[in-house]
Amino acid sequence: MNRTVWLKIWVWVLGLSMLLLSGPAVAGHGEKREVKKAILLAAFGSSVPEARKALESIEERARKEFPGTEVRWAYTSSMIRAKLAKEGKIFDSPEVALARLMNENYTHVAVLSLHTIPGEEFHSLYRNVHLFGQMDGGFEQVLVARPLLSSRDDMVRAARALLKHLPADRKPGDAVLLMGHGSEKHPADALYLAMNQVFQEMDPHAYLCTVEGYPTLEDVLPKLKEGKIQKVYLVPFMAVAGDHALNDMAGNEPDSWKSVLAKNGVHSEPILKGTIENPEIVDIWMDHLKAAFGHFEKP
Ligand code: CO
Repeated sequence: MNRTVWLKIWVWVLGLSMLLLSGPAVAGHGEKREVKKAILLAAFGSSVPEARKALESIEERARKEFPGTEVRWAYTSSMIRAKLAKEGKIFDSPEVALARLMNENYTHVAVLSLHTIPGEEFHSLYRNVHLFGQMDGGFEQVLVARPLLSSRDDMVRAARALLKHLPADRKPGDAVLLMGHGSEKHPADALYLAMNQVFQEMDPHAYLCTVEGYPTLEDVLPKLKEGKIQKVYLVPFMAVAGDHALNDMAGNEPDSWKSVLAKNGVHSEPILKGTIENPEIVDIWMDHLKAAFGHFEKP
């Protein structure tokens, strides 16, 4: 073959690949789509009004850090959404929220997982968000920003932030018990054990236990006895102080942490604030969001 034939083939291949690469970025008739960026905040959700109010603080932070960017909400728990719908409060699932954004011609969407660990809920979210990235005429880019605990650095920062905001009148012998959610079925549950280690290294009287995973309160009780601990601060290690914090942690039922501790001669003082109300923890989430946005800048 002579050089002109090769050149023609080369130009044709180049043209075709440009067409394929540009994909959904180019609207019909070769017009470039206007870049429209959005943030979708994806939380488990809560049926407790105060907890939902607390969630708004991270929305404010996101609006401040990403001015001009659309910020929306999605609740990942279908159980919570159904409960709120009965009260006339409608919250979108991440899938519905993404479909709306797609319909409104948004081109770049960062979904921030407000979950604590990359567990079951995070992975379902991740899977479905990625499917939205494969749709024709859909988003140019859609990414999931990492949940709270995604690296050793996140874990150290989170522990430091939580220990920093304890009441000033805490005495040297007072312990801190953090309540994580935990997961019976997901391997990421191991992060709670690792997180307990991080707390222990910073403060020998700070422990993390979970409601539905490992370690549990029963695992820590002997250590409290051993240390002759008489008082503990109970702190939620969940985005919001919702149902678990109000009932399983600080409630008056005989099996709540407060009651079990009292039976063991330990007085407890609950601090009903979720991690989302801690500014240094929100910093970690914002950094994850910035990392996702960093990918948007790349061609
Ligand atoms: Co739960």
